[in-house]
Amino acid sequence: MKKIRIAMVGVLAAGALYTVGPSTATAAPTQVPLGAAQAQSKGNSAARTSGAPNTDLPLRLLAKQHGLGIGTAVDMAALAADTAYRERAAQEFSAVTAENVMKWSELEPTRGQYNWGPADELVRFAQRNGQKVHGHTLLWHSQLPAWLTDGVADGSIDSAELREIVRNHITTVVKHFRGKVRAWDVVNEAFTDGDAPVLRDTIFRQHLGPDYIAQALRWAHAADPKAKLFLNDYAIDNINPKSTAYYELAKQLRRQRVPLHGQGFQGHLDLQYPLPIDAPQNLARFDKLGLETAFTEVDVRFFLPGDTYKEAGQVGSFNTLLSACLLTPRCVMFTVWGFTDKYSWVPGFFDGQGSATPLDENFQPKAAYRGLQQVLAVASDPNNRRGF
Ligand code: XIL
Repeated sequence: MKKIRIAMVGVLAAGALYTVGPSTATAAPTQVPLGAAQAQSKGNSAARTSGAPNTDLPLRLLAKQHGLGIGTAVDMAALAADTAYRERAAQEFSAVTAENVMKWSELEPTRGQYNWGPADELVRFAQRNGQKVHGHTLLWHSQLPAWLTDGVADGSIDSAELREIVRNHITTVVKHFRGKVRAWDVVNEAFTDGDAPVLRDTIFRQHLGPDYIAQALRWAHAADPKAKLFLNDYAIDNINPKSTAYYELAKQLRRQRVPLHGQGFQGHLDLQYPLPIDAPQNLARFDKLGLETAFTEVDVRFFLPGDTYKEAGQVGSFNTLLSACLLTPRCVMFTVWGFTDKYSWVPGFFDGQGSATPLDENFQPKAAYRGLQQVLAVASDPNNRRGF
């Protein structure tokens, strides 16, 4: 009887934490594995008493003991239509990033008319589920509204006007979400690839000049002084010319007292390229500058069909990045770019590739998911008997 009561209390507590759905009143409490409920109410003693370690807990529970946010990109169409998606998003993650709905083309499709609906819906979902919101993204050369790119291209928007438009966009968006968004990717993908990266030749660089990044950071900071301000890019997980370009920029901005607080590493990995095994050393140098770090968009793609070699490679890839984060004192968040293959962006963008997320199309855990659980659990070391 006593046992059942403990389990019930645990389940109720978990239910309260993980209540999901568009209307909280009707949503059934999400099923949380019994182990999770026990761990939550009894300080993970289940793992100690049952003999075998219980690593099969929601990622957010396992990450909590490290003070690490574990996040996912959220597809708002899936969130509205798919109950399993909604429940899992609430159950597994303590942070969310809008996969698309906070991008400029989505927020302001028509000049001067902001469409806040979907982004506000995500913020409400996050608040109901005790999740933090990572804002993505204020300035990016991609997914810009046509009125803006067309206007700049045909000269009807000149440099002075573009500067005002950018300042106004950053100010409006950051103020709208003030106190609701923990951190912003202020500029996304600012550098080119290759051996000698330079600032990408975007409309921002062309018309506002090379210090547009510093400007953007200052405007964002004025609009929400408490928000953490990040730069974010892909192919910078390792120590390489592009990550070094960010490191040098970060040093310069900090020296100039520009409000830069974090560096985001997207972490879109592909098994055909080398594993970013230097990620801990790479993150450490940003950490030493006093910056937060975060993996912001992790997925690990490969050419289909999968096989056991590829699955193993995928486990290693996810775990390499998660371990790098856990080894870095101020690595605050590990976010996957979609948690189920059912809605992953990968097959649509990379011909022949897929299977890039931790859960399959039916929300069943892959080895990659188990690997993340194990790394998070190992790092907590609940069975520590080391007398060495
Ligand atoms: C992707 C989304 O996942 C897609 O749905 C969209 O069509 C294109 O953008 N780097 C980023 C993300 O910073 O915003 C991108 O997201 C993936 C690459």
